[in-house]
Amino acid sequence: MKILAIESSCDDTAAAVIDAEQVLANVVSSQPVHEIWGGVVPELASREHMKTIQPVVGLALKKAGLDLREIEGIAATRGPGLAGSLLVGFHFAKALALALDKPFLGINHMEGHVYAPFISGQLPPLPMLVLIVSGGHTQLIRVAQEGRYELLGQTLDDAAGEAFDKVAKLLGLGYPGGPAISREAASGDPAAFAFPRGLKGREGLDFSYSGLKTAVLHTLRALSEEQRRTRRADLCASFEEAVVDPLVGQSLRAIDLHGIRSLVLAGGVAANQRLRQRLLQANQGAGWQLVLPELAHCTDNAVMIARAAHGRLLRGERSGWDLEATPRFSLMELSESNP
Ligand code: KG4
Ligand code: ZN
Repeated sequence: MKILAIESSCDDTAAAVIDAEQVLANVVSSQPVHEIWGGVVPELASREHMKTIQPVVGLALKKAGLDLREIEGIAATRGPGLAGSLLVGFHFAKALALALDKPFLGINHMEGHVYAPFISGQLPPLPMLVLIVSGGHTQLIRVAQEGRYELLGQTLDDAAGEAFDKVAKLLGLGYPGGPAISREAASGDPAAFAFPRGLKGREGLDFSYSGLKTAVLHTLRALSEEQRRTRRADLCASFEEAVVDPLVGQSLRAIDLHGIRSLVLAGGVAANQRLRQRLLQANQGAGWQLVLPELAHCTDNAVMIARAAHGRLLRGERSGWDLEATPRFSLMELSESNP
């Protein structure tokens, strides 16, 4: 099935075309306009989406070598995300589908991240555990049956990606912070600074990152201007380790507690090399399967939306023309509407 998918939940305008297992086009246009503000400005994001949505979709079709009439299904991110940003991509997709009389499906953005590594939507052995780590989410989700999501644990304050972005700002490393911190961290010592590990020693499968951000702030205040520069790599490596440690620790705990057979890493922070490395180490000789998404499919893109839509469209699922985009849309709601 040839699917055109659109993703516009935050600050990337993305369109992709897949034909069953094949990716025919993957176009992502990011928005440098936010850089000077040190974070995404929602109003600017939606205006940029309005400017780029048409050329981005046009380019995706051109790269795929297809005419709109040859597309057999259209999918778009419905939420969660920024209200104004979601509206642009979602309504563009819905209008196209309506005008062309094609099947249309609104997709949960986080389900997109879950399906990013799965060509043709084939899942690994169930029950699987999904560790979702992005700018807005840090969650451990158990999937015992396709399409049903059970929340095992989540962050009580900041998301892991948010912690990367905030600490990068403190260090003057710009936005987005994750890639910049990882680059610096590569030449630093992860044990140089003793930063706190969230909810260490507590029961349960939740996370907490606000104390870590404050600890970095206090450490920076105690350093001279020069030390901040010379010890930047050590600061980044120690901070990164303090983010990664609980992610790996809680995932292993969840695997033990909930009879998990596979672990899937999802979301923008899945691009983090240290996290990938630590999970690969933990997986050595273990009885569960580890699935890491390709780097190109970790951060927001429309291939993941197309993959999440693929199985649903094939099963005949359709969204009504009255469906609206929704900024707050948890994966667990999907399970409720899909018994
Ligand atoms: O999934 P995503 O593209 O957007 C959201 O839905 O949030 O994730 C973006 C987040 C940002 O916080 C960014 O700093 C983080 O992913 N990120 C990384 C890396 N690449 C992106 N964090 C750590 N290491 C990376 N290499
Ligand atoms: Zn995302």
